[in-house]
Amino acid sequence: MSSTNLTFRFIAILCVLTVLNMMFFGLTWHKKINYHPCVVDNVIEGVVRYIQNNGAHRLEHHMPESCARFDNAENMKETFNTALKNLLDICESRKIKINQASYKHSPLITLFTSWSPDSSKDPIHNNTLRNWASLQPEVKIVVFTNNTEDTNLAKSYGAHVMPILRHGGGGAPVLKWMFQSVMKQFNNCQLYGYVNSDILFTPSLVKSLKKVVLDKDMTKPLFLVGRRINVLNVSRNETDNYHLLEKVAKQRGELFGANAEDFFITNSAFPWSSIVDVVVGRLAYDNWLVGHVICKMKIDVIDLTNTVLAVHQTTKKGGNFEGFKNKDAHFNNALFKQLKIIPIFETGFTICSQELTYNTLCEDIEITKRETFWEKCKCPATVLF
Ligand SMILES: *[C@@H]1O[C@H](CO)[C@@H](O)[C@H](O)[C@H]1NC(C)=O
Ligand SMILES: *[C@@H]1O[C@H](CO)[C@@H](O)[C@H](O)[C@H]1NC(C)=O
Ligand SMILES: *[C@@H]1O[C@H](CO)[C@@H](O)[C@H](O)[C@H]1NC(C)=O
Ligand SMILES: *[C@@H]1O[C@H](CO)[C@@H](O)[C@H](O)[C@H]1NC(C)=O
Repeated sequence: MSSTNLTFRFIAILCVLTVLNMMFFGLTWHKKINYHPCVVDNVIEGVVRYIQNNGAHRLEHHMPESCARFDNAENMKETFNTALKNLLDICESRKIKINQASYKHSPLITLFTSWSPDSSKDPIHNNTLRNWASLQPEVKIVVFTNNTEDTNLAKSYGAHVMPILRHGGGGAPVLKWMFQSVMKQFNNCQLYGYVNSDILFTPSLVKSLKKVVLDKDMTKPLFLVGRRINVLNVSRNETDNYHLLEKVAKQRGELFGANAEDFFITNSAFPWSSIVDVVVGRLAYDNWLVGHVICKMKIDVIDLTNTVLAVHQTTKKGGNFEGFKNKDAHFNNALFKQLKIIPIFETGFTICSQELTYNTLCEDIEITKRETFWEKCKCPATVLF
């Protein structure tokens, strides 16, 4: 064999190897594209399976293939088990603490609302009353109305009825006056709440409010708000069953905007006397009020959205923006103008509240400071509202 022949063979082998190498590299490269990366969802899936099996098998056994690479599997399992056990202990001791400190006063809150005079037969109000009445005895109910039919309906559910003595913009009651009247009449309650007449609650309201009362200094002003969930065509059955109500809120519900505020809850330390005579059921008072409380009064507002289900009974026939359609829709805006108040409505969105409630992993409720704020929440240097 000549040396040139040998060189040729050597080059030929080199070529084959190179081609093989490229093919192999190409293959692995191709595989990399199809390779499913490990994402948080997969990790959680694996951890959930591990917990569901109550610790049986190795942690990596439960992980999807893409997430099964551990650097120190035994250590991680140990760390995870310890964290889980600690949480169970914490939940146990929290349960004991909550039972010991359990809220003993009753009633907890007086909820009040008002009905526009043209809607006396509205089944929505019937639903609302029945729903609120189901939260007795912690919840007391007051309805502001001058209408005889509404009075009879309210009384049939054990609600107290008060006439609308102070009103504006076509018979809409003055918010502050309602608070003051209710506080005077029922001075043994911890909290007082105005709620729009189409909002349904579950016991999550009572649970959240009890926690607030236990945690907060009730000699200082307290102001609570929350967002509502719009649910179309809530039926009678759904109204009357908390579990069903939670279910339809999940299935058909839509969390409504942070600018819509359908309930306000305060304690008796809140100085309603300093609030101007805005009326409910007309535009602009809600965001102004919350912005005023945060920026001018410098009182912390607590957002209950995470822990209170507030279902808005949405009907095709308006419901959502009733305030816009009324001929006196701008009553509150005219009042602001007259009083030289220049509201910055964005400062009063629910998402601007400084504190919020949340459900802990122990299935109880905590209150915490809000961490991040929408930029428009910022109070101006000079507050004209
Ligand atoms: C309200 O509901 C009750 C049943 O709980 C019913 O008997 C009554 O007729 C209803 N009233 C109105 C005004 O719709
Ligand atoms: C309700 O009735 C009272 C008298 O009892 C009256 O002074 C008040 O103006 C009425 N309210 C409305 C909204 O019509
Ligand atoms: C809601 O009820 C109205 C009648 O009350 C009906 O016309 C409409 O189709 C219903 N919508 C849904 C989504 O069920
Ligand atoms: C309401 O509940 C009753 C019995 O609980 C049931 O017979 C009826 O079909 C339900 N109605 C609707 C509209 O779901």
